[in-house]
Amino acid sequence: MGPTSLLARCAPNDGYPAAVTTYALRSASPAKTRAEAVVVGVVPGPALAPGAEDVAAAYGRKLRGLLSTLEVTGKPGEIAKVPSKDVIGSPLLVLVGLGADPTPAAVRRAAGAAARAVTNAASVALALPADTPELAAAAIEGYRLGGYTFTSFRSAPAESAAPAELVLLSPAARRKEVVAAVEEAQVIADAVIGVRDWVNTPPAHLTPPTFAEEITAAAKAVNKALGKGAAKVEVSVLDEEELAALGCGGTLAVGGGSAAPPRIVELRYRPADANGHVALVGKGITYDSGGLSIKPATSMTSMKEDMAGAAGVVQAVLTAARLGLPVQVSAFVGLAENMVSGSSYRPGDVVTIYGGTTVEIANTDAEGRLVLADCLVRAAEAEPDVVVDIATLTGHMVLALGEKLAGVLGDDATVAEVLAAGEAAGEDAWPMPIPEFMETRIHSSTIADLSQHDWIRWGGGLFAAAFLREFTAGLPWAHLDIAGPTFNKGGAAGHLTAGATGYGVTTLVEFLRARSAGVVPESVSGDAGATTPAAS
Ligand code: BES
Ligand code: MN
Ligand code: ZN
Repeated sequence: MGPTSLLARCAPNDGYPAAVTTYALRSASPAKTRAEAVVVGVVPGPALAPGAEDVAAAYGRKLRGLLSTLEVTGKPGEIAKVPSKDVIGSPLLVLVGLGADPTPAAVRRAAGAAARAVTNAASVALALPADTPELAAAAIEGYRLGGYTFTSFRSAPAESAAPAELVLLSPAARRKEVVAAVEEAQVIADAVIGVRDWVNTPPAHLTPPTFAEEITAAAKAVNKALGKGAAKVEVSVLDEEELAALGCGGTLAVGGGSAAPPRIVELRYRPADANGHVALVGKGITYDSGGLSIKPATSMTSMKEDMAGAAGVVQAVLTAARLGLPVQVSAFVGLAENMVSGSSYRPGDVVTIYGGTTVEIANTDAEGRLVLADCLVRAAEAEPDVVVDIATLTGHMVLALGEKLAGVLGDDATVAEVLAAGEAAGEDAWPMPIPEFMETRIHSSTIADLSQHDWIRWGGGLFAAAFLREFTAGLPWAHLDIAGPTFNKGGAAGHLTAGATGYGVTTLVEFLRARSAGVVPESVSGDAGATTPAAS
């Protein structure tokens, strides 16, 4: 039996009936709802949060003592469950801490924690603060993402199922804006879950060719569900022969050591009423062993995550189509597996990027930039107004910013626009500079146009961005380094669960949404490629 049949035997188990939850939005009273569990927020005081007024009224003066006995203080992440049948209509009251300020971010976190506390209830009513479109969206997003599990590779179904029905209670349930926000939140949650599923999939099951097939299938499914006349997502897959004919030498070099050949997948979404044209580029290293510059064992364990940028880009395009955003999107994801073999590329090799730029290789573990370079040149050829790339690119960015924040680099205006999108998405990011002296460092090769890496460790995330900028044709551009926030090595917290976080796709969608609404920073036309602190 060859490796293929072994893989087939271990194929993801789709045999279990997935727990299907139906969602509803109602203005019913949380004290009268007959759901098996009702979730309310607690703010410091402690007191019940907005949305739970009539539950507080039903408990009356007993509430204070109850909260005190339960040691519930309203801190974020706190959960307490109380049998409640004689006081309210539902037999179980779930109290979840919100913190002092019930913002959408706080509600998203609390709904996520609550989702993990009610998996055995057949029906659940969420009575968190949800009287604005933003809060209602956050409650649904948090609930879906916090309750996320990845069970495809379990040999037996999990003990607890998801509730059959989830009702979001909102006093504004009949407002058009609230209904629309909840529907959009479902689409965004689908996208984040789509990214998590792909990132969590073991690397032997998600090689460049199989990932390309999954992308094609996902686009087909989205297109099928779109209404008549809606703009579709077009997909084209470049295989290793086409990549060779085109001269995509970065992708071919990185993928050369793997038994699974590389791919570049290109997606296009062209609505008739487009407000401008955005290019998205994503790093899709389906596994990063480091290649001949092999990683230490402990750095390799989570390297299936190295295709998260590509997953985010694909899901962002699908989401733009599902939401019908009036903006043209051209997307390019470079898929390769960075492995060790007799056909691996070597430190010392010179590779030629699509378009002709030559690069001297110093470290085969700095592979992402080579795949991105091919894709960025292809993206620039599409003549977009702006280019955004997203990649689990450097451990340096994790050292600099920790594991919760992405670094954003590029021209000042596009960086500001991405940071604003991150803010709207509830994903934390921070601007980083591309110092002038990096120009010298990327041009330090004595035999090729560019050096890939120069063994000065310090500032490696900034070097990488300076390298990428060479391939952006002077277009407005920003680069998101998501090496930190992509993978949660700890336990579940709020709307994040263990493993893949799905970080980035929501920021990309918010970026597209702002562009589609005609929000373009004024300085974009003027200072493309401009940067930041000069060398001292
Ligand atoms: N995929 C890694 C970066 C990474 C690190 C992603 C941690 C997620 C978590 C990337 O390809 C890499 O190996 N980068 C090197 C670059 C160096 C050789 C210039 C790194 O960060 O050490
Ligand atoms: Mn690497
Ligand atoms: Zn990598």
